[in-house]
Amino acid sequence: MTISCSYIHATMKDIFQKCFDYQDAKFVKASGFYPFFKPIAHSKGSTVFYNGSPVVMIGSNNYLGLTHDPRVIQKAKEAIEIFGTGCTGSRFLNGNTVLHDHLEKKLADFVGKEETLVFTTGFLTNLGTIACLVGPDDIILSDAENHASIIEGCRLSKATVITYRHNDMQDLEKKLREIPKESGCFIVTDGVFSMTGDIVRLPELVSVKKRFPKARLFIDDAHGLGVLGPKGEGTAAHFGLAEEVDLIMGTFSKSFASIGGFLAGQPDVIDYVRHRARSFMFSAAMPPASVATVLACLEILKEEPQRLEQLKKNLKKILDGFEKIGLAYIPSETPIVSVFVGDEGKAFRFVQELFNNGIFATPVVYPAVPFGQALIRTSYMATHTEKELEQVLRVFGKLAPQFGILKSQLEVPTELTHKTQSYSWHETPGTLQKCL
Ligand SMILES: Cc1ncc(COP(=O)(O)O)c(C=O)c1O
Repeated sequence: MTISCSYIHATMKDIFQKCFDYQDAKFVKASGFYPFFKPIAHSKGSTVFYNGSPVVMIGSNNYLGLTHDPRVIQKAKEAIEIFGTGCTGSRFLNGNTVLHDHLEKKLADFVGKEETLVFTTGFLTNLGTIACLVGPDDIILSDAENHASIIEGCRLSKATVITYRHNDMQDLEKKLREIPKESGCFIVTDGVFSMTGDIVRLPELVSVKKRFPKARLFIDDAHGLGVLGPKGEGTAAHFGLAEEVDLIMGTFSKSFASIGGFLAGQPDVIDYVRHRARSFMFSAAMPPASVATVLACLEILKEEPQRLEQLKKNLKKILDGFEKIGLAYIPSETPIVSVFVGDEGKAFRFVQELFNNGIFATPVVYPAVPFGQALIRTSYMATHTEKELEQVLRVFGKLAPQFGILKSQLEVPTELTHKTQSYSWHETPGTLQKCL
């Protein structure tokens, strides 16, 4: 049978149709509560300015408050003078500078691994590393709350991906026992989970892993680096277990006030990734000013351990304050403190009202969390002032009862506020339109 051309054209699907049908963002914009892509006119430390008005930033990942440190800015400027504004090519070919090599050595010392490899972003680090180390015959065991870049890396690897319940090491062990003996096995987890500030239960994970000697462990420490550990070396150092973790990745887009990512591990593995990870080989190198920024941040962190102490003090002030107000916040040992709101529409409206009162926080809604379990993610810097933190508490204290988001006014999933059970980020059907 021959199919005529006109018949094929008439039945072909338009891949853009889903875009024409997509209404969620338009609907939220029309409601006046669209909270994304707010254009910052300029910023000064922990305060950002919109249309000339100052707003206290509690929605960034600038945990050490180093983005505006004059010493960091000076080093970035000097790097531009020496190397220009960009590398205009992959490190593999023409984009490698002595600064990149120097940073790799410093990072290896910092996290306690033999060798590191610097990528252009953290996302590309996860994508390239996972996809080149794991293949179709292997199995990845991935925490249910892992970051999107891990999920994409897992997809790209074509390995079988088995998700274990969030931070549930019994579930991990059960699933490890079920995998075929001949398969390679990669256990992948965030060190600090970005939405809730949870820390991986690493001592338990390591003891499970020891029962499976060939399994390899990878930690994404985007949010632990610069924050946890005696000197900010990250989650593995926090538990004194750096040697038990095969690979540590980190990003420079949080504590290190820049952009970029790295992988740390044993030399043969790093060298393999250097010559096989396509997101490394076929993407332009991290700009010299960004590399110099990270080097300056590492130096400051070494010289000023009091920054970590100040960050802890700021965190304590906020946790005590949230407790006093009666908010349904998620207990945290990291600078990420999320507050349970539940309803998506309420989360958008609450964030807008915070903003109107001079506070910038971010809503976390479906599909980042299960539908109907929206959070307000707040995060703190070592450089937040006493006055700024008091303003945050005052505004939350004023608005929370009006919005009905006190513990006493809500039904809060107990696994969130007590962390007794795992809380799974499973996909739940729903649309944002339903709730506004
Ligand atoms: C846990 C985690 N991993 C990886 C990334 C990606 O890092 P980058 O922003 O450097 O691409 C992020 C960024 O949000 C993250 O939170």
